[in-house]
Amino acid sequence: MIDRSATSPLLRVLSGQCQSIPPIWLMRQAGRYLPEYRALRAQANGFLDLCFDPKRAAEITLQPIRRFGFDAAILFSDILVVPHALGQRVTFVEGEGPRLDALGDPQSLQRLKQEIDHALLAPVYEAIVRVKQDLPAEVALLGFCGAPWTLATYMIAGCGTPDQAPARLFAYRYSEAFAQLIDVLTTASISYLVRQFAAGVDAVQIFDTWAGVLPADEFDRWCIEPLARMVAGVRRQVPAAKIIGFPRGAGTKLTQYLDRVAVDAVGLDWMIAPEFVRDEVQPHRPVQGNLDPLALLAGGAALDRAIDGILEAFSLGPFIFNLGHGVLPDTPIAHVDQLVARVRGRSASP
Ligand code: CP3
Repeated sequence: MIDRSATSPLLRVLSGQCQSIPPIWLMRQAGRYLPEYRALRAQANGFLDLCFDPKRAAEITLQPIRRFGFDAAILFSDILVVPHALGQRVTFVEGEGPRLDALGDPQSLQRLKQEIDHALLAPVYEAIVRVKQDLPAEVALLGFCGAPWTLATYMIAGCGTPDQAPARLFAYRYSEAFAQLIDVLTTASISYLVRQFAAGVDAVQIFDTWAGVLPADEFDRWCIEPLARMVAGVRRQVPAAKIIGFPRGAGTKLTQYLDRVAVDAVGLDWMIAPEFVRDEVQPHRPVQGNLDPLALLAGGAALDRAIDGILEAFSLGPFIFNLGHGVLPDTPIAHVDQLVARVRGRSASP
């Protein structure tokens, strides 16, 4: 197998090196804004079927690499395959997002398996092997999982909610049962990430999309503490594991997060103050981010200005260009071309 640590600009940044042209990839780079994705999606029975079809999942993972030449491919899958592999029913309703059998009270947690079913996840590991065979040597393959807190928010509510009130209430009312759920998810996620590394990913990202809704002490307990255990647990089995954390909405709590969670780099959302990042974050860890997905959707001069501001703020230190959250489905392809060209110092039009 190719060792990409020398050839991949993204892996060099994760080792703390600066690159004169920052590597670039985008969260949700494989998805509905791409016509070639929509074509494959239309043939599939449902979104999860697509995630568990190794050939198609590998193909979708490679689509944005072929089109835009990004510096990293992110495995096409979803964070909710982990609750699925713990025995919770997960479906995706077209245009509405995920639906799970909600875990409404402590008793319902007994419906979950204590250990993740790797047999159900075998197609994910096979997709990794397939992508690896076709990926250029300078492109890194990223695996991923959801952080325990973010997974728990979907598992308890049974769907997406604006402020994750169901999980927050559950954690206040039944903190012991909630702690047990977080433990099961932490252990399951460690073994899931270890298997992804064994199958061939070069690095992983841990998505904590809902980190920003918690008060400080709850953030410590449900985000920082399990993440610290997860990163240590993965490294016990894969000592060289490269890990990116993405605690969306953490704000100034990023300082505590980075003090205690030994991630190699941290993903920034688009709301964080650049001065804070330059003074308090980037001196300690490489950063990744943080273009507003709406600026990418808008395009034009506003997009150019937003890109230049980010390059000016972060590109003197170790930096990976990305969005502050995922690509929105209505994003025009031409705007992504404009972004990649500008970050790499070329004009978008030939
Ligand atoms: O980034 C990538 O291109 C890799 C694939 C990926 C998907 N989801 C594909 C997807 C990744 C890394 C995720 C992560 C994910 N999934 C998160 C964390 C990051 C984030 O976006 O906040 C979360 C919270 C989920 C759960 C999830 N999956 C939701 C809430 C939804 C519905 C919202 C939506 O955009 O439709 C999904 C569906 C989903 N995951 C789609 C894709 C391409 C769209 C499904 C479709 O084609 O119908």
